[in-house]
Formats: sequence, structure tokens, C-alpha cells
Amino acid sequence: MNGSPLVLRRAEQGDREEFKDAVLAGLVHRPRAIPAKFLYDERGSALFDAICELPEYYLTRVETDILRGCVGDIAAMAGPGCALVEYGSGSSVKSRLLIEAMRGLRAYVPIDISRQHLDATADRLRRDYPGLRVEPVCADYMTLGHLPVDLGDVRRIGFFPGSTIGNLTPVEATAFLRRARNVLGASGAMVLGADLRKDPRRLHDAYNDSAGVTAQFTLNLLRRMNRELEANFDLAAFAHEAFYNPVEGRIEIYCRSLRPQTVTVAGRSFAFDEGERIHTEYSYKYDDAGIAMLARSAGFSIARTWTDPARLFAVVYLVVTP
Ligand code: AVI
Repeated sequence: MNGSPLVLRRAEQGDREEFKDAVLAGLVHRPRAIPAKFLYDERGSALFDAICELPEYYLTRVETDILRGCVGDIAAMAGPGCALVEYGSGSSVKSRLLIEAMRGLRAYVPIDISRQHLDATADRLRRDYPGLRVEPVCADYMTLGHLPVDLGDVRRIGFFPGSTIGNLTPVEATAFLRRARNVLGASGAMVLGADLRKDPRRLHDAYNDSAGVTAQFTLNLLRRMNRELEANFDLAAFAHEAFYNPVEGRIEIYCRSLRPQTVTVAGRSFAFDEGERIHTEYSYKYDDAGIAMLARSAGFSIARTWTDPARLFAVVYLVVTP
């Protein structure tokens, strides 16, 4: 199961090349932008885990509470003897709620780009659920067109929690769900977690926490470039900037240059004006109509929606439209 050190080293090398290409292209591009997936190196992943614990960042807590209340209904809707396919083997707390609720689960298939993360998750689950077939798939779920695992003729239930769908633009989100629809098949379903539109103040605070952890998470991208791409970003000369854009219905996050400066990255120079920004993330917020439109555009329909009493977050059960 574990990749050999050689395979891992090759993968790391490939990752670094991909990072370098994306960074150089993103810094030349206007507006400057680096894809959000590069925020998640080891330190970035640990910082994101810390974000999930912050008082202002309600998303994880609220979604977990909703799931606690609705996994029985989800299990009943899915029926017995399904396979659970998780897109991004994230918080095992949430997967475990489903694994424990779904009767006669035939297999749990976590999909993740990080072999290390995947192996650790699979090992823990095999230990804790000895009878469960765990079939990790190391892949970028954004481009995965089919599962390289023989699951037989069982119903496939996708699971994409955490509002990760919000980090995709509407076009990317539709493309992702269309691909997932093919992977899940005609009898498939998808359990999706989406953050809802709400008081902009509440959204603003969730991405501008008083402890500054989200700022560290954003600026960690500069630190990563310094370490992996021989860049010389002065972390004190950039600031985290996050705000809600009500027209687009999304949080936008940037690294903003605090003064005019020139930075070297992988041997190339980039001049920044004061106030010039590097875009790092979008976090789209949905309303009921937006979720319905997204589902429809990808060949799904909404079978049921669960929310918390304050309607901060939604868990949606989508079925493949015949
Ligand atoms: C992973 N994703 C759903 C988070 C979000 O809320 O968009 C990423 C994040 N970025 C800053 N804080 C949280």
C-alpha cells in the first residue's frame, strides 16, 4: 500500500515542477493568481486544520452538526450495500459519521492527491473498522474520469463535504460534478456540503479571524515559494486580504503587497506596486437557487436538503437525473 521512497521522491519532484510552472504562469498573468490547491503543503494543511477550530470559522462545526442529525436519513436514502466515494479524504470525523450510519457498506473509496494523507487515512480506518473494504485512490479528483477500482454492481454514493465546492468557480464546479456523475453512474448520488449566503459581516469574520490564523494560511503560500522555488518574498511586506464580494457571492482572498518591491522566484524577477495583489482563493457562497442550478447543470437533482437552524450551511443529497 505504501509508496516506495523512490516513487514518493519522483512524485515530490513532479509536484515541485507543477508548482513552479503554476507560480510562474500565475505571476505573469494579470490579475496575478496562484491556484488555491498550492496552499496545502504540510504547514498549510496544519494551518487549515487550525482554521477549522477557530470561533469565527463556523463552517466545519455547523456542517458536522448537520451531518450528525441527518446521516440516518442519508443512509436510508442510499439504501443498504452501497460504496461511499469521498472526494478529498478530508476530516475523518465527517466520513466516520457516514461510514457508521450506512448499513452493509461494501467499500469506502477515499480519493486524494496526497499519497501520504491517503495512506494514513486508510490505515486508520482499516484499524478502526476491520470489516470495511477501504480502497484509496491517489488522484486529482478534479480530473478523475473513472475509478480504477472494481466495485462490482453496487450503488455509489459520492461525498464532497466542507464547502470545498465553494473553492471552485461555477464553471469548474459544474465540470467537477459532471465528472463525478459519470464516476457515480446512473444509480449514484452525491452528498454535498455548501456554505450558504448570509450576513456579509459573519462571512467577513470567518476569513479575517482575530487570531490571524487565516492570514498565516494565506501568507504560507509565499513561505512555500521561498522554500521550494528559491523565492525571496519578505513575508512582512505582504498582507492577507479577504473580503466578501456580494455581486459574485464569494469571499475573495489575496496576498497584497504593502510597498513597491521586486521579488525573485525561480530565477525570475517580478515587480510589485504598492497595493498590487496575488489572488489565492475564491470561496463561493450558495443560496437554494444556486445549488439547484449547479445540480441541474451537472445532471443531478436535489432529493433533500438539510440546514442548521440559522441556515448558515447546507448538506444536500443529489441524485443522478435519469
Ligand atoms: C477548504 N475551503 C472550503 C476553505 C473555505 O472556507 O473556502 C478554505 C479556507 N480558506 C481560508 N479559510 C478557509
